[in-house]
Amino acid sequence: MRAIDIIIKKRDGLELTKEEIEFFIHGFTEGTVDNYQASALTMAIYFRGMTDLEATYLTESILHSGDVLDLSAIHGVKVDKHSTGGVGDKTSLVVGPLVASLGVKFAKMSGRGLGHTGGTLDKLEAIPGYNISICEEDFVRQVNSIGIALVGQTGQLAPADKKLYALRDVTGTVESIPLIASSIMSKKLASGADAICLDVKVGSGAFMKNVEDATKLATLMVNIGKNCGKDMTAILTNMDEPLGLAVGNSLEVIEAINTLNGNGPKDFTDLCLEVAAHLVLSAKKASTLDEAKKLLLEQIENKKALETLAALVEAQGGDKAYILNPEMFPKANYTFEVKAQADGYISHIDALAIGNAAMMLGAGRSKIGDAIDHSVGIVLNKKVNDKVCRGETLAILHANKEDVVEEEQLLLEAFCISKSQVDSQLILKIIK
Ligand code: URA
Repeated sequence: MRAIDIIIKKRDGLELTKEEIEFFIHGFTEGTVDNYQASALTMAIYFRGMTDLEATYLTESILHSGDVLDLSAIHGVKVDKHSTGGVGDKTSLVVGPLVASLGVKFAKMSGRGLGHTGGTLDKLEAIPGYNISICEEDFVRQVNSIGIALVGQTGQLAPADKKLYALRDVTGTVESIPLIASSIMSKKLASGADAICLDVKVGSGAFMKNVEDATKLATLMVNIGKNCGKDMTAILTNMDEPLGLAVGNSLEVIEAINTLNGNGPKDFTDLCLEVAAHLVLSAKKASTLDEAKKLLLEQIENKKALETLAALVEAQGGDKAYILNPEMFPKANYTFEVKAQADGYISHIDALAIGNAAMMLGAGRSKIGDAIDHSVGIVLNKKVNDKVCRGETLAILHANKEDVVEEEQLLLEAFCISKSQVDSQLILKIIK
């Protein structure tokens, strides 16, 4: 077999076989297929697309380029969730403890944030002492004993994806639905769960800017997961504004704690309940979505879910006093209020701009390895469809520097104010 024949076949719009895809990805991982050939193939895939079966073979080839976690020693159905990346998305911090408190095994590896999107690992590290690197053995033991572990990557998961993504990033092929789907699913499948709930974001702050493309991506990822024997759900959710009110690491952990105390923002609470309910259904702990949501709400009211978060933090070396007394989190030195310049209703809040402003304050990284300031960020005071009067506070910046002129300007431009309310819906579609 030759790499060039595989490139030509895809260039001409023909369907690749399992053997051809395996040959190409194996060679690329080993270095016998060169970067320029992989770039040519990804560009051909960008223009020609892939069938569901080709995308499944591509996912499996990338998945088997590295370690695959063996979670068979964990009793019961193991569940996992994934978000395609949002602003203010602290869902894992709430969904994990919620489902684990009902006896559903939540075994999750998370990533770091880059650019305008935050990462769960950075949020967890805002909790003093929290250790994200535990070995596979301890990971399995912890999920068996307390029902949950939230860690960074152990071992070498999907190294071919890392190499391929770096190429796509500089050759204009990031925005290809089969390439995105196989990239995300290879890492998810390598993490070993039986049931996966995907939160596919749609809107200005997301990879997928419209429902049509997000539906294609979600359907393909669900089909790839099912072809690999997993129980799959994808939820399409609106990213035309940040999720919840808080953006920034400690601020988001505090919002997650408030949510587990029953005092979270409505959109964030609703999304957590939706994702958690699908996982509870997959684990067969309830027979309808409504029953699952009712059980989950009880775990908030009786504080069992909050206790599970505290147990998770303690098990991973963190100080659980911060979970029970969130006022202990260090605060930024300065706060600045951004005020509305017109009367009306909030019609849109550009999540990308809010994420960028938070990054400029130090809550995120502009390049891999940048240090993070856990205490800084933004708290929204208004959400889409809220009434606003000129001079009212739209958002509060939490900063550790005195000059925030650029961030204030970004925030001001992020809020659109119109004369009337708009149609806005958080959960756009469920694909199973
Ligand atoms: N996230 C990933 O992990 N891969 C992509 O290709 C896009 C988003």
